[in-house]
Amino acid sequence: MKAIAPSILSADFTRLGEELERMEAAGADYHHLDVMDAHFVPNLTFGPLLAEAAQRVASIPLDVHLMIADPMTYGPMCAALGAEIVSFHFEATPHVHSVLTKIRAAGAKAGLALTPSTPVEVLGPVLNYVDMALIMSVNPGFGGQAFIPESVDKVARLKKFIADNTGRSILIEVDGGVTDKNAAALFEAGADILVSGSFLYGAADSAAALQSLKK
Ligand code: DX5
Ligand code: ZN
Repeated sequence: MKAIAPSILSADFTRLGEELERMEAAGADYHHLDVMDAHFVPNLTFGPLLAEAAQRVASIPLDVHLMIADPMTYGPMCAALGAEIVSFHFEATPHVHSVLTKIRAAGAKAGLALTPSTPVEVLGPVLNYVDMALIMSVNPGFGGQAFIPESVDKVARLKKFIADNTGRSILIEVDGGVTDKNAAALFEAGADILVSGSFLYGAADSAAALQSLKK
């Protein structure tokens, strides 16, 4: 799979509906929603209210990325409002298995996100409950940060780890600093979905920018 998920963090929030349409017309596969709580990360964005509004107008699936200290409450809630994928952070909770299970039970694919310093091997004990692994290629919290180059090797290690440890297919998503400079290497290493915020929303021609990531 070679999919692109523009992050609405870089959208113009005064015209959110039009911004979502702009990315759909450009060929986006998912809308990526960055939920932050000022506890797990030092930034505060939006929550289920906005996700629900996006869900109402979007004609492509929502990919919700929870960077919050309480995924146990909000993970299942975002799944229940219709998001296709709901991810939360391994580092945010001691109850990873439980949250994964609850997100699935509420009807979404369960995603587990890892910050740059968390090794891929932590997925081992819960691999059967993970539908997508999200490799952060910046430290979570803000759009527009520089890509951490070691992330390419980390994606390749994850791809191999999944192949060696399960027969199931698990999606690999990469998020943070994705541009036309690193997208090809990330897909080559095994990524299925690339998140891109400032590069896509900041582009004058979003369709051309989006195609440059898929090439
Ligand atoms: C960072 C967020 C990312 C971010 C991506 O914490 O999870 O989704 O919005 O934005 P860019 O592509 O600008 O790094
Ligand atoms: Zn994100």
